[in-house]
Amino acid sequence: MPTPTTIARLSEHAGQQVHLRGWLYDLSSKGKLHFAKLRDGSGIVQCVLFQKGVPPELFEAVGHAGQESSLELWGKCVAEPRAPGGYEIQVEGGRVLQRVEGYPITPKEHGIEFLMDHRHLWLRSRRQWAVMRVRDAVITAIRGFFDARDFVCVDPPIFTPNACEGTSTLFEVDYFEQKAFLTQSGQLYAEAAAMALGKVYSFGPTFRAEKSKTRRHLTEFWMIEPEVAYATLDDVMELAEGLLCHVVREVLRRRRTELEVLERDLAKLERIQAPFPRISYDEAAAILAKHPESTFKHGDDFGAPDETIISNSFDRPVLVHRYPHQVKAFYMKRDPADPSKALCVDVLGPEGVGEIIGGSQREDDLAALEQRIAEHGLPPEPFQWYLDLRRYGSVPHGGFGLGLERTVAWICGIEHVREAIPFPRTIYRLTP
Ligand code: 4AD
Ligand code: MG
Repeated sequence: MPTPTTIARLSEHAGQQVHLRGWLYDLSSKGKLHFAKLRDGSGIVQCVLFQKGVPPELFEAVGHAGQESSLELWGKCVAEPRAPGGYEIQVEGGRVLQRVEGYPITPKEHGIEFLMDHRHLWLRSRRQWAVMRVRDAVITAIRGFFDARDFVCVDPPIFTPNACEGTSTLFEVDYFEQKAFLTQSGQLYAEAAAMALGKVYSFGPTFRAEKSKTRRHLTEFWMIEPEVAYATLDDVMELAEGLLCHVVREVLRRRRTELEVLERDLAKLERIQAPFPRISYDEAAAILAKHPESTFKHGDDFGAPDETIISNSFDRPVLVHRYPHQVKAFYMKRDPADPSKALCVDVLGPEGVGEIIGGSQREDDLAALEQRIAEHGLPPEPFQWYLDLRRYGSVPHGGFGLGLERTVAWICGIEHVREAIPFPRTIYRLTP
């Protein structure tokens, strides 16, 4: 029996004996012939069993195996231009490990709640397989991008004593005798790390008690947060643009099959190239003012419909900078040219995905930052360590946060972020 290989590596074994281990994806039989589609996690391949060419017990067992039965098969790998992956297996032997009947997810249409309740099984279907593999390639691309630019990955804590992104979405945890929160963002810690290491990024789960039930919000999502000492807002925008171009390019290079499974319009992804349009908040507001359906009022933050209108005016991500400081976080530096504005940027993804990146240059002046903390009604004590960064060698610096699930949803062309994470957590969902 040959040593086991995977479907993704069949091209290395053309004309040879192979041994595959996986699950039955689909079966069709014609008298003395079974066509078994085997999936093994790396791909799907058609395996042909002739009644005369395999042991009778195997022919019998495969004929009675339902969808998702576990089995291993061995035989000859032959090039078959008409087969989806270009190869077919002429089976000579094998065994059914577990015969399954009544697998809950069938090729017929299921409702989204049913599928989400069965997420642990739904992950096996072709589209979800493709999404998870795109997510993996996005993660690898992000790490590669920062690594090639000499960034150091630093992991911030998840239990934190303070809020980073406003107090309304904090998850409170009973931390022994003390109150703690699940982190909303690793940024404040990334700032500390940037003063120690220069260029850093954090990559981890973040938590927000989002009461909104939208297609863009999860309560647990993954964020990538670069932070750079001596960076200005322009540097931050440049870095964000470079990262997105790199990620899309890498996914196009490494995950074409998956994007095809998802029926993604590749031309739209191929267009994602620098330079991205950069417009100010005021310019974005002017776009909305001209739009008949917009209810936006100048001075407000953009709502999801506003972001969609703005992003639909462009064919690639758009960088919107310098929002009114009132709608933004306490740590952002004010624009010296117009102190009513923050030195910040939101990147709005194309095709209605909304904000995928939020970033800024940080307030580096101790007195100004102390004042902001007070103005935002935040308690001063838990921020003393953060203020030390402005007491000891303060420098201009900045960074951003990229939402992984929104990025994956956009690249995959899927409507809802809940499919962009293996096990989504939302206000209504804690299981499976
Ligand atoms: O704009 P946000 O809130 O920025 C921060 O947290 C900064 N501290 C980041 C930084 O400068 N280091 O969040 C950043 C990104 C958003 O643009 C969005 O992509 C994603 O995180 N995000 C969410 N994704 C899914 N579900 C949610 N509830 C999200 N909230 C934010
Ligand atoms: Mg934001």
